[in-house]
Amino acid sequence: MTMRAITGPALFTLLVVGVFVGFGEVVTRISGESDRARRATAASGEVTPDAGEAIFFGRGKCGTCHSVSGRGSAVRGPDQGERGPLGVAIGKRAEARAQERARTTGRPFTATDYLVESLVEPGAYVVDGFKNEMPNPLRPPISLSPDDVRAVILYLQTLGGVADADAIRLPASALAVRSELKDTALLPGGDPGRGRKVFFDESGSAACGKCHRVKDAGGTVGPELTGIAGTRDMGFIVESILSPATVIASGYETVLVETRAGQIVTGIPRGEDPDHLVLVDAQGRPQRVRKADIKRRAPQTTSLMPENFRDILTVGEVADLLAYLATLK
Ligand code: HEC
Ligand code: HEC
Repeated sequence: MTMRAITGPALFTLLVVGVFVGFGEVVTRISGESDRARRATAASGEVTPDAGEAIFFGRGKCGTCHSVSGRGSAVRGPDQGERGPLGVAIGKRAEARAQERARTTGRPFTATDYLVESLVEPGAYVVDGFKNEMPNPLRPPISLSPDDVRAVILYLQTLGGVADADAIRLPASALAVRSELKDTALLPGGDPGRGRKVFFDESGSAACGKCHRVKDAGGTVGPELTGIAGTRDMGFIVESILSPATVIASGYETVLVETRAGQIVTGIPRGEDPDHLVLVDAQGRPQRVRKADIKRRAPQTTSLMPENFRDILTVGEVADLLAYLATLK
């Protein structure tokens, strides 16, 4: 779970809020996680170091700011090769940077995690002597797809190291959201069986089943999802996962209650009697608050559903979840 290392609301703001793409593009973006999808996309855009090099010096625009061992004359960003002023190529110096990131964030960081972070959240770490002025290449106008980013990372790994596709774990935030998607069509790369496991695995990063019921399994904190794909398009579902607060399902609004004693209780109101209000918290526990003790009751704009799935789930896990949810009609 090294991608837990890349967290932060900023990532969401940067990538999800503003970035809306067409359905075809989402499908392309989701693809490439599984071997099946990799083969299917190989023809259109290869995920190889060579493809990455072409993107680096081409439409990725990296070459406008970065030279590689003196190839190019750009100096705005650090030279990525070993013959640059830093003297160690990026594929190698990423190891030292990863150690530094692990120290500052307190979370595990591989060299590849550092490369991923450099691309999906350029501002998270700013190289000494440079300014925080690298644009996020997933956003317009550069608009690289997750597969493009993978290819570029493979290329960077080869500069001083070896290409290792399996080490690349892209966070789901690399997926853009579009709420008006109508057609679920095919979601390449997603596997419904794997998605069901991710959904119900209580020890995994998603653990959707703790809060959502599908048929006769799962919890009741959030709405039942047994027929979700029969009423909602994929865009809505993707958005519900990566940006839960955008639309809060009615009846599931979060309320914050402050008691006269200064206690704060947050949860979804689930019934009341003349003397008590019952709020269900994110763990599904009912919290009873005496009405006479309530000083303040404030509706919240946040969802009780975790806001950090875009950071802790990978593109592949989201593709699997979507493939599973698409079967729920
Ligand atoms: C507008 C200029 C600009 C563009 C375009 C740009 N970068 Fe950067 N990049 C920078 C700057 C400046 C830094 C140093 C500051 C920082 O760490 O954010 C940097 C840092 C990096 C680092 C970390 C380097 C290190 O020594 O740790 C990597 C990796 C990187 N960029 C890769 C890329 C790739 C790949 C692309 C193309 C997809 C790209 N950059 C596009 C300006 C740019
Ligand atoms: C801690 C509890 C919790 C967890 C874990 C959770 N959710 Fe939710 N979810 C909610 C709540 C509460 C809502 C209703 C409020 C809202 O719309 O944001 C909701 C809403 C949704 C909706 C919109 C449903 C509708 O009818 O509008 C979808 C889809 C969804 N969740 C999917 C998921 C998936 C997939 C996962 C796992 C990756 C997940 N949720 C994990 C609590 C949770």
